[in-house]
Amino acid sequence: MLTDFDVGEGVALSKMNAQVDRPIGMFDSGFGGLTVARAVIDLLPNENLIYIGDTARYPYGPKPAGDVRSFAIELATSLVGDFNAKLIVVACNTAASVALSELQSLLSVPVIGVVEPGARALVNTTKNNRVAVIGTIGTIASGAYEKAVAGASREKSSDISLIATACPGFVEFVERDETSGEAVTQLAEKLLAPIRKADVDALLLGCTHYPYLSQVIGRVMGPDVKLINSADATASVVRDALAKNNIARSVERGVQGSHEFYSSGDVRQFSELGRRFLGPELMSAKHWQIK
Ligand code: DGL
Repeated sequence: MLTDFDVGEGVALSKMNAQVDRPIGMFDSGFGGLTVARAVIDLLPNENLIYIGDTARYPYGPKPAGDVRSFAIELATSLVGDFNAKLIVVACNTAASVALSELQSLLSVPVIGVVEPGARALVNTTKNNRVAVIGTIGTIASGAYEKAVAGASREKSSDISLIATACPGFVEFVERDETSGEAVTQLAEKLLAPIRKADVDALLLGCTHYPYLSQVIGRVMGPDVKLINSADATASVVRDALAKNNIARSVERGVQGSHEFYSSGDVRQFSELGRRFLGPELMSAKHWQIK
């Protein structure tokens, strides 16, 4: 027979489970953020995840910061309000660069971007204190990486010099699945020339799509420059934030997380291209309606 104590404990436990079972909410302008989703699924396989790719309004990179900020607010608010997300990951460098602090003050759940984790990884990697970041026009124009790298350098008490360069065209090559060959190599040589001259030893791929160009970028930069992808660093920050806020889904329960994917644009195209970015977990996608 259950005592009052057992019943009370059972209720508390199921309330606790309901709390931690809430999904992590993640969004990007499209497919690129799936590189971050991959890293989060690999590190936290028992967490539930909802991902929205705003493919109807993609790309964010060349858009005015104000537009990107209002898209980000709409997506994050929907993840919390419609999907009961317990934590938000802004898996888009452009959106994180212009909207992170606003989202953090607006929402009642922790909000994590990709910029700070990437900047910290960059600063921790360099040996000669000369680093570079590449991103979309919007990301580089925002100055978010200058701020984040300066913050990470202060934490480490080191004096780091940063060169930040926009790489328009890279995203389009990835979207066309043209991640090698003469055309993309020529563009990389042209865009990365100022960085090659700057004698850096670490380069942050500050755009969700760029990890797919790692081979080309790595060849152009040469073997002495370490390429940093912010996806893994972001996943570690997500793990720590879940633990700190007592909202991590316990590994001991042995339950695999569920993963749901939404797109504001063509759902079929999203699941086909998305599967290539993420892997077999992306079996199908559903439609997310822009308000
Ligand atoms: N997701 C964007 C980023 O990381 C790249 C694609 C776009 O321009 O929307 O900056």
